Amino acid sequence: MPTVSSFPVIRHEIAGVPVSELASKFGTPTYVYDAAKIEERIRDLQQFDVVRYAQKACSNIAILDLCRRHGVVVDAVSAGEVHRAFKAGFAAHGTPHPVVYTSDIFDRDALELVVKHQLHVNCGSPDMIDQLGAVSPGHQITLRINPGFGHGHSQKTNTGGSSSKHGIWHEQVGECLARAKRYGVEVTGIHMHIGSGTDLEHLAQVCGAMEKTVLEVGRSVTTISAGGGLPVPYKESQTYVDLPVYYQLWDATRQRLQEKLGHKLTLELEPGRYLVAESGFLVTEVRAIKQSGENTFYLLDAGFNNLARPILYGSYHPMSLDVPESRSLSEVVVGGPLCESGDIFTQEEGGLVCRRKLPSAKVGDLLILEVAGAYGFVMASNYNSKPLAAEVLIQDGQPKLIRSRQTVDDLTRGEVIPA
Ligand code: LLP
Repeated sequence: MPTVSSFPVIRHEIAGVPVSELASKFGTPTYVYDAAKIEERIRDLQQFDVVRYAQKACSNIAILDLCRRHGVVVDAVSAGEVHRAFKAGFAAHGTPHPVVYTSDIFDRDALELVVKHQLHVNCGSPDMIDQLGAVSPGHQITLRINPGFGHGHSQKTNTGGSSSKHGIWHEQVGECLARAKRYGVEVTGIHMHIGSGTDLEHLAQVCGAMEKTVLEVGRSVTTISAGGGLPVPYKESQTYVDLPVYYQLWDATRQRLQEKLGHKLTLELEPGRYLVAESGFLVTEVRAIKQSGENTFYLLDAGFNNLARPILYGSYHPMSLDVPESRSLSEVVVGGPLCESGDIFTQEEGGLVCRRKLPSAKVGDLLILEVAGAYGFVMASNYNSKPLAAEVLIQDGQPKLIRSRQTVDDLTRGEVIPA
C-alpha cells in the first residue's frame, strides 16, 4: 500500500522539472502529468487479473497509450471514448476485452460503433439489452448491477441505491436474463461500481452482493468486475484503501464463486482516480492579489473552466507556490478569473468560501493545484470563452506536450453567422 505523502506548500519542481521551466516553455494554465506516478499506481494493482482504466478520469490519448503499454485495458463511456481508445492503439478484440463500452444508455452513435466493432458492452439499463440484441443477436454482454446501496466522496458521486440512475436494479436480474435470452445475448460478466472516492467499508459490502448476483445469473459468467472507486488522499488526514485487504476480499469472493460454478473467473478492477489523480498538477500564475474586507484573494489565470471539482463538490486540492522558502505564511482565498462568484478553489460543498494557509505571494508567482490528474482536464469547459489548457507529460525527466493549448480560433470553430 502506498504511504501517504505530505503536501508541502512550496514546490519548485514536478517530476524533476523546474516549475518555472514548465511555465515558460508551455505557458499557464497547463496540466502537467508525471508518468512515473501513473506507472507506480498501475503496479500497486498488479494482483488483480485485469486493470481496466476508467478513462473518463483523464482521457488524453498519451495517457491511454501509457496505460496500454503497461498492460492496462480501458473502459469507454461514449463513442468519443471508444474513438480515443482506438487512437491510442487499443484493438477492438482480445482477451481481456481491450475496450468495454460501459453506460446506462446507447446514444445512436455509440450503438452503431459498438455493433460495427463488436465491442463488449457493460449494460447499465435493461433497455440496452433489447436495443443491442435487436441489431446484434448473440452479442456478449456484462450486466452492471446497482446492488441497492452506494457510497462516494459526495452525493453526486454515489452510484448505488434507489436515488442513483446507474446500473440495473438488483431485483431485475431475472427480467434482464429473459430479455437477453430473447436475442441469444449471453451474459458473461457481472459488474458493480457503487461510487467514486469511497472507502473499504463500503467497497467490502459489494462482495456479498456480487456473489448473490453471479449465482443468480449462473455458469455463463466468466468475469466479475469490482468497479472503481478507490480513493486517493487529497489531505494529509486522508488515506488509501488497504489494497492487500481489498484484494483478499475479492479473491475470496472469486474463489467461492469458482467452486460453485466449476470454472475459473477473471477478476477485474476499474479504477479511474487511483491511477491518475496524483500524477496531475495544474500549473497556474497568480495574476492579482487583493484585499476585500478581512479576506486576501489570490486570483489565478485558471478557474473552474480548468478545474471544476471545487465548485462542483467542494473538493479540496492541495496547493503550493513556487516561491522562496523565506516567504511567510498567511491565510488566503484562492480564486480564478471567471465572471462568477463561485469561481473559488478554496470552497466547501455548498459554496462556503474558506481560507488556506499559503506562502505570501506576488503577482507573477506560480501556484500549483495538486492531485488534479483525475477529473481535472476532462471536466474543463470553454466558459467565458477561455481556451482549454495545454497538457504536458513528463517521462524520464523530459516534459512533452501531449495537447496544445486551444487558440481563440478554436473557440469559434463551427460557429456561423447566418447570411
Ligand atoms: N467505473 C464506473 C462505471 C464509473 O462510473 C466510474 C466513475 C469509475 C469506474 C471510476 O471511478 P473512480 O475509480 O475514478 O472513483 N467527477 C467526479 C467523479 C465521477 C466518477 C464517475 N464515474 C469527481 O471529480 O470526483
